[in-house]
Amino acid sequence: LPDVEIMVVSNREPYIHNRTPEGEISLQLPASGLVSALEPVMRTCGGTWIAHGSGSADHDTVDEHDRLRVPPAHPEYTLRRVWLSDEEIDGHYYGFSNEGLWPLCHTAFVRPLFRAEDWEAYRAVNQKFADVVVAEAGREDPIVLVQDYHFALLPRMIRNALPKATIITFWHIPWPNGETFGICPWREEIIDGLLGSTVLGFHTRQHCNNFLDATDRFMESRIDREQGSVILRGRDTLIRPYPISIEWPPAALATQGSIAECRRAVHARLGLADDVRIAVGIERFDYTKGILDRMAAVHDLLTQHPEWKEKIAFVQAAAPTRSKLGAYDKLQSDAVRLADAINAAHGTAGWKPIHLVIRHHDQREVYELFRAADVCVVSSLHDGMNLVAKEFVAARDDEQGVLVLSSFAGASRELSEALIVNPYDTRAMADAFAVALRMPESEQRDRMRLMRDVVRQRNVHRWAAQMLIDAARIRRRETIQA
Ligand code: G6P
Repeated sequence: LPDVEIMVVSNREPYIHNRTPEGEISLQLPASGLVSALEPVMRTCGGTWIAHGSGSADHDTVDEHDRLRVPPAHPEYTLRRVWLSDEEIDGHYYGFSNEGLWPLCHTAFVRPLFRAEDWEAYRAVNQKFADVVVAEAGREDPIVLVQDYHFALLPRMIRNALPKATIITFWHIPWPNGETFGICPWREEIIDGLLGSTVLGFHTRQHCNNFLDATDRFMESRIDREQGSVILRGRDTLIRPYPISIEWPPAALATQGSIAECRRAVHARLGLADDVRIAVGIERFDYTKGILDRMAAVHDLLTQHPEWKEKIAFVQAAAPTRSKLGAYDKLQSDAVRLADAINAAHGTAGWKPIHLVIRHHDQREVYELFRAADVCVVSSLHDGMNLVAKEFVAARDDEQGVLVLSSFAGASRELSEALIVNPYDTRAMADAFAVALRMPESEQRDRMRLMRDVVRQRNVHRWAAQMLIDAARIRRRETIQA
C-alpha cells in the first residue's frame, strides 16, 4: 500500500502488559476475535493502532507519547494507548457497550440496559478517541479502520474533523432487525455516527440488510439497495458484507508438535485414559456462546448413549471476561454448578465427562487443544462470525476432526461442511455429537478439506484487502469529482 497512512481504532488492545505479583512485567495477548483478525493485518500493513491501555503495567511500557512499537519481540507497527478512568470504563465499556449494545445486537435474551449516564460516557469516550486519531494522524487523509460496537459515534466525529479521511468501519457483532434495534433510545445517533464512514462492513448479508432496514425506519436518508449504499446529507456510505477470517497458516501453528504429541500432552494433563476421545469448546465465558446448552447436550448424549461413558471427555476452556457484570458472573457460577451436576450424575471412579477449565489459555495451548480434539463444538446462540470455528479448521493439517457448529454463528454460512446444529435443540446437538464421534476418517477428511479450502482462500488478508479495495475505489472517485 504505497503512500497511505493506516490507523486502527479498537477498544481492546493487541498487547497487554500486566504486573505479576512478583513485580515482573508479563505480556498477554487477549482472547478477542477482533484482535486475532486485525493483528496479522497490521503486522503486514504497518501504521498505528489506537486502543485502550488496559493492563496494569501498560503505563510502564510506553514512551512519553503513550506509544510503543509492537509486536514487542520484532516491531512492525505502533500501538498508541489511550488511558480511561474507572468512570469512563464503567460507562463506556461495561455500561453502554456491554450491557446495552452487546445484548441488544445478539438478541440473546439478556435484557439490554440503557442508562443516560452510560450513554454520556460512551459519547465522551468516542470523542476522546476521535481527538487521539486527529492528533496521531500525520496527514489530512489517513485511512482509519474503526472497529466494533464500542465506537459507533467515532466515524462521524472523525469525518467532522478530517473530512478527507477514508473511514472504514467494521461491526464485529451481529446487527439485529430494525424493530429490535429500535429499542435503543439513541438509535438515530448511532446510525448517524456509523454513516460518517466511507465503508461500513458487517460479517453477513443478513446483518447488512438489517442495518439498511433500521436506517430506512429511523433516518431521513436515501437507500440505494442495488449498490448497497446509504446517502445521508449528500454523502455516501457503502454497506457491504466482509466475512472476517484468520491468518493462513496461523502463526501459532508453527510451534506446535505433531497431532499425536498434542493428544498425548492433553491426555496427560487431564489424566485421561488412552482410549478417551476428546471434544473441546474454547472461548470467552460469554452468555452468547451457548456453553450451558452444549453441556446439557453432553448430559443428553450420555443419557441416550450410555456406551460413551468413560469414553469421552468434554473439555471446556473458558476465559473469564467482563466478570464485573451480573450476567457474566451468573453464567460462571451456573456453568460450574451444571458441570458438577453432570459429572456427579455420570462420572465414575477416575473418570468425569466434563472438564471445565476457567482461565485464560494462550495461543499455544489453544492450538494444542484443537489438535488433540476429535470434535470441536461451537454452539453460539448468536455470533457475528466466530473465529474459533475457523481456527479449529486451520489447526487440523491432518484433515481430521469434526466441527459441530451453530447455525446462528456467521461462520456457518461459509463452513457448511460442519455438522450444523441448532444449539437450542439439546437432543439434536446430542445426536450431532454421536454422529461426530462415529464419523469415519474418510468422511472427516472430505469435510475438513472443503472447509480448509474456504479458510485458506478467504483468509484475513483478503478480508482487509477487500475493504481497502472498495475504499480506494471510492477515494479515487471522490478525487475525480472534486
Ligand atoms: C468480541 C468483540 C470484540 C472484543 C472481544 C473480546 O469479539 O466483538 O470487540 O474485543 O469480544 O471482548 P473484550 O470485552 O474482552 O474486549
